Amino acid sequence: MKGLILSGGAGTRLRPITHTSAKQLVPIANKPILFYGIEAMVAAGIVEIGIIISPETGGDIRDAVGDGSSFGASVTYLVQDAPLGLAHCVRIARDFLGDDEFVMYLGDNMLEQDLVSFVGEFTSRRATPELGRGTGPTAQILLAQVDDPRSFGVAEVTDEGNVVALVEKPDDPPSDLALVGVYLFDATIHEAVAGIEPSPRGELEITDAIQWLIDQGHEVAHDVLRGWWLDTGKKDPLLECNRLVLDTVDPRIDGSVDEDSRVEGRVVVEAGAQIVRSTVRGPAVIGADAVITDSYIGPYSSVADRCSVTNAELDHSVILADSSISNVARLTDSLIGSHVEVDRQAHVPAGLRLMLGDHSRVELEQ
Ligand code: DAU
Repeated sequence: MKGLILSGGAGTRLRPITHTSAKQLVPIANKPILFYGIEAMVAAGIVEIGIIISPETGGDIRDAVGDGSSFGASVTYLVQDAPLGLAHCVRIARDFLGDDEFVMYLGDNMLEQDLVSFVGEFTSRRATPELGRGTGPTAQILLAQVDDPRSFGVAEVTDEGNVVALVEKPDDPPSDLALVGVYLFDATIHEAVAGIEPSPRGELEITDAIQWLIDQGHEVAHDVLRGWWLDTGKKDPLLECNRLVLDTVDPRIDGSVDEDSRVEGRVVVEAGAQIVRSTVRGPAVIGADAVITDSYIGPYSSVADRCSVTNAELDHSVILADSSISNVARLTDSLIGSHVEVDRQAHVPAGLRLMLGDHSRVELEQ
């Protein structure tokens, strides 16, 4: 079985963080979202992985993932010139995939459950077709109950458990079962993506391709998600995902903590990081070569490599690499990009002096 990870696309919802960088490289507990997907594939024995990249952000993804050997995988990059849809990604991966079965994984999704049982189910359903509708599934999807299905692909499933209809981001959803961004296919999907037309929004939809399979009489199996799942494309789900993952990290201190500092709970301090006259209360991760001075880092904070935090307090926040936070009483529920400076100064006249990128959002305290 091969793997296909979709890491192209435009990343508009996480602007300005993703104006210049790939949304799949935004870190969760200081590790790019994309890496969790690659690791999940390798853990399920899938080591031949194709990654769809865009011309704009593909270089960064290549730099971060390399040839895949550090993950125990072999990675092939497939450039998609424009974000023409998830099924378009399958089309351009045709030669890479050959006639193999494959798992398709959306590079901005994070799942608590691993891929081992999901892949195992598909393999055993195909090996024992008599237990299903007699043919064995050509595809398997993963579904999750959500409160508002209108921003997802939505599935209609009969009482007998058969998937009978799929619709992308419907105004009037037929159920509350959303498609999670992990799919399993055999080579029949290539006929399906060749047989569909672009949707009204101009994309080749994978939901339409799966509907094509159903309409042609193929069996589409499904599993219901266990554990949490997040489509990390927006700030609050991203912070929530960071919280959930930080709750599971193994504490370790490879950097230095001076005698006037306290590190409490589930905390990672990477090599080269320095904690000086500060308190770090976990769950939290402090990246390599970060310097925390006279500060408090509270629960659910991820401070990336080479950041400096001086005379400041923060919690429940994600700070990307090379940023500096100084003299701030309390930063909370925040997502700060890389190379950002946040400082309080005693200039007269007093006032906020801001230089913010397009689509930035600032909430001031009362
Ligand atoms: O997150 C689950 C949802 O993902 C599903 O419920 C929907 O059925 C599915 O269409 C998808 O919806 P999104 O609107 O969230 O998809 P998004 O445009 O964010 O793209 C998902 C990933 O695929 C992301 O890593 C970017 C990548 N991508 C997307 C498109 C449209 C590509 O690589 N190429 C593309 O052409």
